[in-house]
Amino acid sequence: MNKKKFYITTPIYYVNDKPHLGHAYTSLATDTYARYKKLNKYEVFFATGTDEHGQKVEDAAKKKNMNTYEFTNLVSERFKQLTKKLELINNDFIRTTEERHKKNVSKIWKKLLDKNEIYLGEYEGWYSIRDESFISENEITIDKNNNRIGPSKDILKKIKEPSYFFRLSKWQKPLLEFYKKHEDFVKPRSRYNEVKKFVENGLEDLSISRTSFSWGIKVPDNTTHVIYVWLDALFNYISILDEGNNKSNVFWPADIHIVGKDILRFHAVYWPIFLLALEYEIPKTIFAHGWWTINGEKMSKSLGNVIDPNYLVDTYGVDQVRYFMLKEIPFGEDGNFSEDLLVNRINSELSNDYGNLIQRVLSMLQKYKEGVVPELESINELDKLLLNMPENIFKLVEKSMNNLQFNQALENIWQIIRKANAYVDTNKPWELSKEKNSSRLNTVLYILINTIYKTNILLQPFLPSSSKKIFKLLKQKEEIKFNEISKKHRSWTYF
Ligand code: MSP
Repeated sequence: MNKKKFYITTPIYYVNDKPHLGHAYTSLATDTYARYKKLNKYEVFFATGTDEHGQKVEDAAKKKNMNTYEFTNLVSERFKQLTKKLELINNDFIRTTEERHKKNVSKIWKKLLDKNEIYLGEYEGWYSIRDESFISENEITIDKNNNRIGPSKDILKKIKEPSYFFRLSKWQKPLLEFYKKHEDFVKPRSRYNEVKKFVENGLEDLSISRTSFSWGIKVPDNTTHVIYVWLDALFNYISILDEGNNKSNVFWPADIHIVGKDILRFHAVYWPIFLLALEYEIPKTIFAHGWWTINGEKMSKSLGNVIDPNYLVDTYGVDQVRYFMLKEIPFGEDGNFSEDLLVNRINSELSNDYGNLIQRVLSMLQKYKEGVVPELESINELDKLLLNMPENIFKLVEKSMNNLQFNQALENIWQIIRKANAYVDTNKPWELSKEKNSSRLNTVLYILINTIYKTNILLQPFLPSSSKKIFKLLKQKEEIKFNEISKKHRSWTYF
């Protein structure tokens, strides 16, 4: 039988500097969702990579006195290393400097030209190098030195140069119609409304080539121009399927692009318009997440307040970092980072709640039953409650995950863990053992092991490494699909 397909992406990361925790966050959230879908029996394609052209990267290489391409090799490698460190299950990693991508973008450019979507003109206006974005007058503020400041608080650059334009304005109506028919196109809902309003206010044609620097994909047949980095970058989502894996017909359109809220406009306005113009299908959902802040300011290299994800993973462990990031803030909202918050959460939820439960139950199983899971004997109402809880909670987890509410899904799972800890305290297996109440002890231990096993099934996407270890301790398969959760182990079997 053909498996249902699921295509999920992270944004591709700028290689102007090494990765920070904000980047790791986007990747970990995407990875968790990819794992969740896989365990729900989808065939998943998970794409990530690096965005290597544009003025920002060229400037960064110049600052280091390096050849631009060599510089991108160096920084891209750091992002690649991070995918390993974070134990991501991405299927491929694309760099926009690769031939396969350049070939695809040139092809797209020619198609757009043939369709009369592109014309040559001159761009005069303000540009944010930090955002690689043309900034319109109404988004500009003026600082005390009379500099023009963009939405990301950088000093804008005035540019006046020949440029190709894309006929964005003519797509305003079709895009609004598309939004109307696809209310799940942008999530969360508040972002959908925001994007819609932006488009309702009118769209200007978009400058899509630059002539004042050369680090980019050359415009076919007019090589004094390089293609605008966002047009170049967005098509990575198709290059990676098409030119790399021959899978476009299988996985396109993407099911979800996960992006930070800072780059929503590019994904929810320009991207679908480019695709409409090419008569390609449009992705099903763009989910915009919030920012990690430090004392209320966005964590970013330019503000100098970044946290190195490698340090956190080395110090606390990869599952621990993932768990913290997904539990601490509702996906879609901003949240403040501090190491104290991370340590507290790891200690109270992972070590005390979950770690202790496993440690206590497994050592009792060893002590009282020589590590062999006993048979379930007669059960009372309270037993039944805990016995059936994981299956019931799974339904809630599914609901939360459909909305990418990772923190809510974890909160649901933690209800089981708290209930199980309380069950140990109420049933006191050590007293049952002392009283030689073997029948009751069997039932209590059976139910506790069953609960740990099933909780661990649910936790796989959130704690990939630890859940593997726990399955091993339980002498079970390393990975268990969610639909196997309801299998009852009347008699505990070992794999
Ligand atoms: N290159 C573009 C994306 C092109 S996709 C076709 C880009 N790169 S980026 O490296 O600047 O950012 C990549 C991702 O990291 C974005 O989703 C962004 O929101 C995320 N983050 C960067 N800083 C962040 C925080 N402080 N907090 C959370 N995520 C943040 O944009």
